[in-house]
Amino acid sequence: MIRFFLPLATAAAMLAGTAASLSAAAADAPKAIRACVACHTFEKGGPSKIGPNLYGIAGQPAAKVPGFGKYGEDMKAAAAKGLSWTPENIAAYIADPIGFLKAATGKSEVRTNMIARIRKPEERAAIVGYLQSLKD
Ligand code: HEC
Repeated sequence: MIRFFLPLATAAAMLAGTAASLSAAAADAPKAIRACVACHTFEKGGPSKIGPNLYGIAGQPAAKVPGFGKYGEDMKAAAAKGLSWTPENIAAYIADPIGFLKAATGKSEVRTNMIARIRKPEERAAIVGYLQSLKD
């Protein structure tokens, strides 16, 4: 049985190492942000597209990117309830934007143009780590 558990422990250690290096470095853009670039820019001062520029979004209150006038009513309602973009909230939001907004607003029906769904936890972690690295 011990032999059976050793590879699992090794895999866990490797995963932990990956997570640590992601949060440490001012990461290069992970491949997973290909799912975002149609609607978002990431560079400082970048333009709004369908969604707001995401430079510096980590840690900020929701729906406050200057110059982006296209927030949905439900996102604004979530922001009014105090939503901010902690790493956990970003990860939950990009996993399921609709479900996240339902929980954040307490409504059973919500509308949003943010439709990305990142299913793989490691891709969500890479995106969150990257967003956290985008700051002055
Ligand atoms: C189809 C276009 C689209 C795609 C693809 C998309 N987004 Fe969005 N995103 C939006 C829109 C529109 C909003 C504003 C949502 C609202 O008001 O309901 C938004 C909002 C956000 C916000 C909150 C911004 C704020 O100011 O509060 C974050 C964070 C975010 N997106 C991250 C991502 C990430 C990361 C990806 C890729 C995994 C992604 N989005 C993919 C359109 C998109």
